[in-house]
Amino acid sequence: MTESSAPGKVYLFGEHAVVYGEPAVPCAIERRATVTVEERDDDRLRVHAQDLSLDGFTVEYSGETGATPDVDVSTPLVEEGIGYVDAAVSEAREAADAPNAGFDITIESEIPLGAGLGSSAAVTVAGIDAATRELGVDLSDEEIAERAYRAELAVQDGQASRADTFCSATGGAVRVEGDDCRSIDAPDLPIVVGFDGGAGDTGKLVAGVRALREEYDFAADTVESIGDVVRRGEDALADGDLAELGRLMNFNHGLLEALGVSSRSLDGMVWAARDAGALGAKLTGAGGGGCIVALDPTDETTTALRFTPGCEDAFRAELDTDGVRAEDA
Ligand code: PMV
Repeated sequence: MTESSAPGKVYLFGEHAVVYGEPAVPCAIERRATVTVEERDDDRLRVHAQDLSLDGFTVEYSGETGATPDVDVSTPLVEEGIGYVDAAVSEAREAADAPNAGFDITIESEIPLGAGLGSSAAVTVAGIDAATRELGVDLSDEEIAERAYRAELAVQDGQASRADTFCSATGGAVRVEGDDCRSIDAPDLPIVVGFDGGAGDTGKLVAGVRALREEYDFAADTVESIGDVVRRGEDALADGDLAELGRLMNFNHGLLEALGVSSRSLDGMVWAARDAGALGAKLTGAGGGGCIVALDPTDETTTALRFTPGCEDAFRAELDTDGVRAEDA
């Protein structure tokens, strides 16, 4: 039996603009998905998932990935979750040259699904690492990141950026620009996350920004301005200047709001954080609903968020310098 875990992430800067070639800076957080894998003596997959904002489910299906799982519950989230596990298993089988390997797989995650915290990337990264190690093959973090990116591309119809999977595989803060991904130095960041209990539709939100950008020059300028904020943000990170980072996160949120990807609950949480004295706050990920990220070394923001209408959960989640790692099964 083999167990691996991988972190979720927040975007400190640059979501949406990264789609148009601007840089973005995601940062791994200490909230992890853990995947336990045991090889079977047939070619079937049995997947048991807990804590994925669902009550927990178990499915068993044939070894051919792409086969319809035999599952009682049919929710889009289950199907989506299974899609990532399937794609991760395909990558692991290929990497270990074991096309008929079957597995019992258990997933436990502390990362809300589809809320801008990179839950699917963390499950995919940890799944590839655990399944390949179970088959006796050790991949580098870079190869896991590459295979996890390919798995996400397969599930998301060719629409995936490298940001989530690279950040989850390597940990720490990361700079992504097109296909170029690299780790960057970052100080200890006092990250607080607020979650509205919902999720945005990434495809729709990305399409909305594309349409705005085509219609209005000033929307295209807004996307470029986000790139400028990101470049300033990289300097502030390198200098360890938390006050400047916070100001730039506030600016980034305003620009995302202008592009129509915020929501009433996200704005409510952002303002609650600012009123509580956070250094800065912004939505993270595609938007439309889901999570905000704030910087506050005190407990004020977490407490304020817990009393904010529309906020379902608030927690501290500091930067995680560990990427994918083996756990004791
Ligand atoms: O919500 P997430 O974590 O999947 O982030 C989406 C980020 C976007 O920039 C909006 C899209 C992308 O693929 O980069």
